[in-house]
Amino acid sequence: MPVTWEECRRRLEKAALILNREEPVAVQGPISVGIDLGTADVVLMVLDAAGEPVAAFLEWAEVVRDGVVVDYPGAIDIVRDLTAKASRRIGREITRAATSFPPGTDPKLSTNILEAAWLEVSGVLDEPSCVARLLELDKAAVVDIGGGTTGTAVVQGGKVVFSADEPTGGRHVSLVLAGHYDISFDEAEKLKRTPGNREILSLVRPTIQRVGDIVARHIRGHDVERIILSGGTCCLAGVADVLAAELGLPVTLPSQPLLLTPLAIAALAGDGI
Ligand SMILES: Nc1ncnc2c1ncn2[C@@H]1O[C@H](COP(=O)(O)OP(=O)(O)OP(=O)(O)O)[C@@H](O)[C@H]1O
Ligand SMILES: [Mg+2]
Repeated sequence: MPVTWEECRRRLEKAALILNREEPVAVQGPISVGIDLGTADVVLMVLDAAGEPVAAFLEWAEVVRDGVVVDYPGAIDIVRDLTAKASRRIGREITRAATSFPPGTDPKLSTNILEAAWLEVSGVLDEPSCVARLLELDKAAVVDIGGGTTGTAVVQGGKVVFSADEPTGGRHVSLVLAGHYDISFDEAEKLKRTPGNREILSLVRPTIQRVGDIVARHIRGHDVERIILSGGTCCLAGVADVLAAELGLPVTLPSQPLLLTPLAIAALAGDGI
């Protein structure tokens, strides 16, 4: 069942509040679990029967890059670890979860990891399409700008009619900063996340404009009147404005860009796909 933008925002705030919180909570009724195996991080989220987040765990790890698993055993260990943490928090064994993949890549890369971590796969759908499914949308495109890739799903009358992905994301933003300041990639990542540094946006504007070009290509020929953003790279102040100017369309930024795709994947499990 799709939710309104207001309801989605409320759930995102709840997820942010409980992120990486291990203290036990009582959860009644069926649960749905989603696991987002990203380029920059792995996120596991558990929703209760009402779709309310009850557990959310994020671990920064580079186990997947652009739809390719670069550290298979590492990915399995993280999924097992996050599953164990979430199980302890909700006092219930987690045996099933939904997962996702960048459009155009092989879903098996993600589903194999869940299965190796002893989880039954309860649903699998590409990343921006998960977000598109969660929200009530028409003539819109969901754009997920993650660590490694930018994925787009075009929605007409609530249905995804097109999805595609290209390897440009937050990694490329950090590489530009690392090159400019002559610092390591990790230092550039930290710098990028420092709030209120407007110089960063001016330096990485061409990279964000390239993302805009990618999205423009993805939506060409489709009836798109607005853009919904997801993905951690949208945390960078000013990204939405640059994209709105590039695309000439209104752009909606969620309050917790890092958590929208994981929330949508967990909701997918609840829909029994
Ligand atoms: N506050 C912040 N400001 C700027 N960038 C941020 C911030 N927080 C996270 N990021 C960036 O967001 C990216 C991670 O986002 P996300 O979790 O959506 O990606 P992912 O799902 O791991 O990757 P992908 O979807 O490409 O496989 C990283 O590049 C990270 O540096
Ligand atoms: Mg992602």
